[in-house]
Amino acid sequence: MTKRFPDGFLWGGATAANQCEGAYNVDGRGLANVDVVPIGEDRFSIITGKKKMFDFEDGYFYPAQEAIDMYHHFKEDIALFGEMGFKTYRLSIAWTRIFPNGDELEPNEAGLKFYEELFKECHKYGIEPLVTITHFDCPMHLIKEYGGWRNRKMLEFYERLCRTLFTRYKGLVKYWLTFNEINMILHAPFMGAGLYFEEGENEEQIKYQAAHHELVASSIATKLAHEIDPENKVGCMLAAGQYYPHTPHPRDVWEGLQLDRENYFFIDVQARGEYPNYAKKMWERKGLTIEMTEEDLELLREHTVDFVSFSYYASRVASGDPEVQEKTAGNVFASIKNPYLDSSEWGWQIDPLGLRITLNAIWDRYQKPMFIVENGLGAVDEPDENGYVADDYRIDYLAAHIKAMRDAILEDGVELLGYTTWGCIDLVSASTGEMKKRYGFIYVDRDNDGNGTSKRSKKKSFDWYKEVIASNGGIL
Ligand code: BG6
Repeated sequence: MTKRFPDGFLWGGATAANQCEGAYNVDGRGLANVDVVPIGEDRFSIITGKKKMFDFEDGYFYPAQEAIDMYHHFKEDIALFGEMGFKTYRLSIAWTRIFPNGDELEPNEAGLKFYEELFKECHKYGIEPLVTITHFDCPMHLIKEYGGWRNRKMLEFYERLCRTLFTRYKGLVKYWLTFNEINMILHAPFMGAGLYFEEGENEEQIKYQAAHHELVASSIATKLAHEIDPENKVGCMLAAGQYYPHTPHPRDVWEGLQLDRENYFFIDVQARGEYPNYAKKMWERKGLTIEMTEEDLELLREHTVDFVSFSYYASRVASGDPEVQEKTAGNVFASIKNPYLDSSEWGWQIDPLGLRITLNAIWDRYQKPMFIVENGLGAVDEPDENGYVADDYRIDYLAAHIKAMRDAILEDGVELLGYTTWGCIDLVSASTGEMKKRYGFIYVDRDNDGNGTSKRSKKKSFDWYKEVIASNGGIL
């Protein structure tokens, strides 16, 4: 018997504003942290808040400035998503299109209009937009003036952004995510939360204080979204991937539990409504004091998310043995290498069963509907003279992950709302700034140095995914 996904399952793809829109200074858009991270060897120290780069500097190339110029191609791109049969399209709002500095009282109409047209274009094809309110972006003015999310003033600016979006797009958007990969604040604090550290500052103190501000902001957004339109559904978003112990040695299992908690900490608050005891104890042990008010705690308690969304690229491995060092790359976090798994060209390990394990772990922990909002294979594609890529490797990767997800739903009974593959159209890589790390069903003619026509063409995976959606996961 053909195994199909539940009726109404939301198939689609995902992008983020700074990685695809370009047009960084068009129609009144202001400058954001995500604009000033160049490609090249300094990128990592900049996104982690170690090296200061608050503006464009000579001698660097900044791929987000033009990206794939979706700002001017969105009609063509959404038509292609429509042709694949997308039921949903996950995109993010560039905060600085709406509030160029972040602290204005009135929004920028040109920015609001852009997304309004984009959402209307989605609905033309029966595509439900799934909107990330902030996908790593923070207005540069808010960083220079207030220090980004370390400052409590951010609550006010974020609330204004959310109120503006929920009011203006009422009836056009009903699925919202408050912060992309909220746990990234611990690993890439400048990119994730506009945090830059001065010499001698206690980074952990600042990161957890900023996390508290984001968590409260997320509750305020959830409250507002429900007040403005009871149809709204708000989700949190985790960079997920379960930790496996390196060996059955209890100290490895213990280490895995600790590292999982480091990530689940955020979702524990957003989905359950309070800080877990293990976090309070950890702050105590480390001598961290997180300032919070009674009102904050009430907001967290009263306004938990409707669903839990996450990105999944790989599982991770934990060891309590300091001698075990061999690391592999992976979604900004490095992890110990798992000898049982293959890796992508960028060293990210490939583990479809890990997706089923992660889905079950999250379901068991929260019992809230889930949404996989990122998954995919970053690979070098070799197009022919027509821009066609025979990307069987991508099809194999996605098919294996979709099967794992199907097993989790049909065999294990988890509740999953939908699946959006990452970078459904080729875009700029967040971790490296490269164009050649491609995830899309649609090839974009542009290279790492910004050369190319930006012409779009379909890869082999385009027709494959179209059939997956048409058969509701029956044909993989
Ligand atoms: C996630 C981000 O971390 O992974 C995306 O939400 C990112 O923005 C994606 O692009 C894939 O990572 P990368 O580094 O290959 O672009």
